[in-house]
Amino acid sequence: MMKLTSILSVASYIATASAALGKTTWLPELGPSLNPGLGEKLPFKASTGNNPWTTTIPQVCQDTAISNKCKPSEMEVFGVTYPDCAKPWVMCRCSKSPMAQQTIRDVFGEVPVHLRSTVRHVMAFPTPDGKGCHAYASSGDIVFFGDCANKTAPSVFLHESAHTRDKNNYSKNTILPAVNSDTCVPDNYANTNEVEDFAQLMVVHTHKLVTGSSPKPTDCMSHQMDIMARDWSASTLWPATCDLSVKPPNSPSVNKTDPKNVARWASEGSAPTPPEGVQLEDFGVVV
Ligand SMILES: *[C@@H]1O[C@H](CO)[C@@H](O)[C@H](O)[C@H]1NC(C)=O
Ligand SMILES: *[C@@H]1O[C@H](CO)[C@@H](O)[C@H](O)[C@H]1NC(C)=O
Ligand SMILES: *[C@@H]1O[C@H](CO)[C@@H](O)[C@H](O)[C@H]1NC(C)=O
Repeated sequence: MMKLTSILSVASYIATASAALGKTTWLPELGPSLNPGLGEKLPFKASTGNNPWTTTIPQVCQDTAISNKCKPSEMEVFGVTYPDCAKPWVMCRCSKSPMAQQTIRDVFGEVPVHLRSTVRHVMAFPTPDGKGCHAYASSGDIVFFGDCANKTAPSVFLHESAHTRDKNNYSKNTILPAVNSDTCVPDNYANTNEVEDFAQLMVVHTHKLVTGSSPKPTDCMSHQMDIMARDWSASTLWPATCDLSVKPPNSPSVNKTDPKNVARWASEGSAPTPPEGVQLEDFGVVV
């Protein structure tokens, strides 16, 4: 009897750990159902500028490249301008990333400008085994490993940009109470915690705004969807221009060929490595 109880309590602990919100799911996975509509209907801003940085690199890109075994000399650094923002975004791509520069520029141009405003740098690296997509958001940066998007599959870019807007705050204070009144969350990944739930709700909500529909009724998560509709109207997500008051300043520039960084590259790193305390997210096969 004693033994059975302890086995049961271990089992329930594992179940809780793998689904921290403990809800049923609206769909098993959002991407396959929502990406086609998002790709077709999200307002798209084509990037206009391409300002390659040849000698310097933002410090955070240098550090991330070093800890992910991409040589500083393999890092493409470029400033990207969109017609709705007076300031460019500086992006950093390891030349071994399966996402082309143009793909990254295009997909980021599909992210609603209000969310884009809260992103500092966009970074792209390969995955060690060449498969799937991992990503994280940290200090306003969104970092992708592997093939995470294309122009008709922008959901992971939307998800990561939502994290930079949330700053683990909106999700805790506003989304979590709504979750507690609902029986489901968007998908299995949203069940991880309220932070992931908010990022996935942003994907469901923007899909509903731009397509005018959802693949199935959202009654089981109506409190969450009502809060999203209240706080993230089309006019909030798509103001005419970016909000320069929230756009984070670039990470300080450093010299790409600084010998002490080149030496660090040789001795550090195993990909993909997020900063300490930041969770790496596994999106599986996206495109
Ligand atoms: C945190 O979220 C609350 C409620 O959503 C909001 O009122 C507050 O301004 C936010 N704080 C920060 C620092 O963003
Ligand atoms: C960058 O560092 C290299 C090696 O020390 C040096 O030759 C070069 O002049 C530096 N460039 C800049 C722009 O500081
Ligand atoms: C983008 O990814 C989707 C989902 O895998 C795929 O169906 C589509 O063909 C891809 N589009 C391009 C332009 O590569």
